[in-house]
Amino acid sequence: MNTKTIRDLSPAELHGRRALVRVDFNVPLDEAGRVADDTRIVAALPTITALLDGGASVVLMAHFGRPKGAPDPRYTLAPVAARLAELLPRPVHFLDVTVGERAVEATQNLASGEVLLLENTRFLAGEEKNEEALSYQMAQLGDFYVNDAFGAAHRAHASTAGVAKFCRPAVAGLLMEKELAYLGGALAAPQRPFVAILGGSKISGKIDVVEALLPKVDTLLIGGAMACTFFRAMGFETGTSLVEPDRLEMAKDLLARAGDKLVLPEDATIAPAMDAGAQASAVDRDAIPVGQAMFDIGPKSVARYCALVEGARTVLWNGPMGVFEKPPFDAGTRAVAEAMARATGLGATTIIGGGDSAAAVADAGLDAQMSHVSTGGGASLEFLEGKDLPGVSALDAR
Ligand code: 3PG
Repeated sequence: MNTKTIRDLSPAELHGRRALVRVDFNVPLDEAGRVADDTRIVAALPTITALLDGGASVVLMAHFGRPKGAPDPRYTLAPVAARLAELLPRPVHFLDVTVGERAVEATQNLASGEVLLLENTRFLAGEEKNEEALSYQMAQLGDFYVNDAFGAAHRAHASTAGVAKFCRPAVAGLLMEKELAYLGGALAAPQRPFVAILGGSKISGKIDVVEALLPKVDTLLIGGAMACTFFRAMGFETGTSLVEPDRLEMAKDLLARAGDKLVLPEDATIAPAMDAGAQASAVDRDAIPVGQAMFDIGPKSVARYCALVEGARTVLWNGPMGVFEKPPFDAGTRAVAEAMARATGLGATTIIGGGDSAAAVADAGLDAQMSHVSTGGGASLEFLEGKDLPGVSALDAR
């Protein structure tokens, strides 16, 4: 990686200094307002701990939800601070503002080994506009800048990008480094066979990643409702399945260009409606009846996809195979997750590209059996599409 990380900082650059660290603490809350899934908080702990161990104090900046550039109590980071304090055996403070005199003072009063989480960066109007004046204000909160928020690295915001101009050194944290190493490694030098699995409902949201991955992979497996747009392009009846009629030409073109590399489901699990699980059945892909829709890949496809996954040396997965929140339409997604876990056991590098597939893997209790589960949904997709991540390019190069 040619981006500097906290490993490149000398002991003198850490000791007694304020590390301004951007993290992605955009986590779900439960009905009682407590953190329901702390994966992203846990994932940031190695960076926080390494900085504290080096004698720095840690000032954390994060966004939470999508408030519209003004304070909104529904999106306070206070519950996140409470969870962080439970996870980290160090003093964790929370401040109800993000920048300004009180915030600067609070950072200056922090002792080495202490942590301060500032209030939601998106309470500030300049954050999403990447305003220079706000970036400058943020830079007063630390003596150097660390971006560990891979999940927000595709956003060119003041706290993820602009601040790096005024607060240097500006380096990547350990989570950012790990994400870039796994995702970048799969793209740059994969062990072969390299199998990618793409799912989800719409081909329109995945077309850039399909185009970017096709030249790199040995096999690209397609699942989810987006397969139906391909089925229609092949001339099959798709019943009431979700099809994007304005993408049919694109699907035809891809089919013609991709050849054997692009593998579509051979069969489909169908039902009259999404919540009519009891009436689900499996049919070949050219036999979807009028009045029924595909809600998962079928058992023949599951067997083929699992065999291909288990024979691979690198597997990259983004997007569910079906409506995985509604059994029995979770079968395809679950089977792919299990096949990936077996592939890991056989020595393959297995990478989950965040978002829904990460949720499905967590649901199946298989996270620990993957080489890497990305904490970024949108960010990992943009990275796989080959796009520049502003949160990374703003950092110091080696
Ligand atoms: C995410 O949850 O994907 C990241 O935290 C980014 O959030 P955003 O899509 O609101 O920018």
